[in-house]
Amino acid sequence: MSVEIRPYRDENDLPAIQKLMAAHLSEPYSIYTYRYFLVTWGKLSHVAVVEGEVVGAVICRLARHKRGPLRGYIGMLAVSEDHRKKGIGTMLVKASVEAMKEAGADEIVLEAETSNLGALRIYESLGFLRDKLLERYYLSGVSAWRLKLWLK
Ligand SMILES: CC(C)(COP(=O)(O)OP(=O)(O)OC[C@H]1O[C@@H](n2cnc3c(N)ncnc32)[C@H](O)[C@@H]1OP(=O)(O)O)[C@@H](O)C(=O)NCCC(=O)NCCS
Repeated sequence: MSVEIRPYRDENDLPAIQKLMAAHLSEPYSIYTYRYFLVTWGKLSHVAVVEGEVVGAVICRLARHKRGPLRGYIGMLAVSEDHRKKGIGTMLVKASVEAMKEAGADEIVLEAETSNLGALRIYESLGFLRDKLLERYYLSGVSAWRLKLWLK
């Protein structure tokens, strides 16, 4: 099985990404949220393609935080069930971290459910640290870790 990790290209990628996120993330996102991320920061976001099919995606943005650091943010990450535990999630996050670094990011943050061992494993293996516990962060009432990677 060969996996291609490539940046988001254009709106043709959008239906597959939306389908993936809707199936695997606990929070619902509207089309405006996808466009908010992808129109401006598409080059920072990546998809994983196997045999022509999008099987994973990571969606990011990069903006100045309160006139302070240039902060990258990983908003969504998912890999389809058939392709998990093969390193695809890690490859996607690595590709986006590199793209944000190249774009000048000082730090990168995200939130992950405290019970999401797969996500915590990926981020911590790439150097992210648990910065803050966000109690009952999600609509479901589940708590999250704010994870942070300091780049400078
Ligand atoms: C989390 C997710 C993206 C992981 O994708 P993946 O492609 O399976 O991740 P990887 O194969 O790169 O796994 C990285 C490591 O985490 C481990 N891991 C993956 N899923 C795991 C799980 N459910 N429980 C424990 N460890 C897990 C892998 O074994 C691997 O460990 P290793 O470094 O020792 O080999 C995927 O499970 C998913 O899409 N989940 C649903 C959506 C989601 O939770 N997104 C994250 C929101 S913050």
